[in-house]
Amino acid sequence: MLTAITREVSRSLGNCELTWLRREPIDIDLAIAQHHNYERCLEDLGARVISLPALEEHPDAVFVEDPALVLDEVAVITPMGCESRRGERESLAGALAEFRPVVWMRDPARLEGGDVMRISRDLYVGLSARTDAAGIAELADCVRHFGYRVVPVELRDCLHLKSACTFIGDACVLGHRAFLDAAPLAAYRFLEVAPDEPGAANALRVGETVLLPSAFPATAELLRNAGFRVAVVDVTELLKAESGVTCSSLLFEV
Ligand code: GLY
Repeated sequence: MLTAITREVSRSLGNCELTWLRREPIDIDLAIAQHHNYERCLEDLGARVISLPALEEHPDAVFVEDPALVLDEVAVITPMGCESRRGERESLAGALAEFRPVVWMRDPARLEGGDVMRISRDLYVGLSARTDAAGIAELADCVRHFGYRVVPVELRDCLHLKSACTFIGDACVLGHRAFLDAAPLAAYRFLEVAPDEPGAANALRVGETVLLPSAFPATAELLRNAGFRVAVVDVTELLKAESGVTCSSLLFEV
């Protein structure tokens, strides 16, 4: 069964970490409503949603993708590059322990789940402000015996690898070439997002559908024209916290 772990929005979301975005006021009640709507979208697309309680002392805790990586065999808890977010990990590890053996990566390596894009047995990992070469090497050590290959990807001007590109199935990567060196992804069709919609590079494949923020209508149209089934969700307030649709859930089969 497709399962999605999510977490309620903290009312402190307005104090979130920002790296490339300018801080804008976030309407917290609207953010909470949009996140609930996102969870309903995941359910409509076939996922069972398990929503964890908010961590009010951690403004970014709704973005459960970063503290963990869930593979078929194991859940890996990441040595987050963002110091202020490291306290998000314990309760997430506890929730994941119901579904997978849990392995903690070790300091001083640094890595966040938003930098890991899985395509089959290949894990593409962005070298970012949050993930370093030691993190990539440590992840490779953790997952090699399960048969995963770890491939580094150079990034520029964006937070995580999945800010630059996402695998949307059917041998296709959706992305914004200006954000990455796409050479390691040459085996895949690369669909460039619509001009003026770089944030659309973060899309989430759920079953047969690609979920995209409604803020990116031109890219949604581009995907439909390329033969993809597309669903959209309004997450404007969460986007202000430098997130995307992959950040707010951990999707895996149980
Ligand atoms: N606001 C998302 C992050 O910086 O991790």
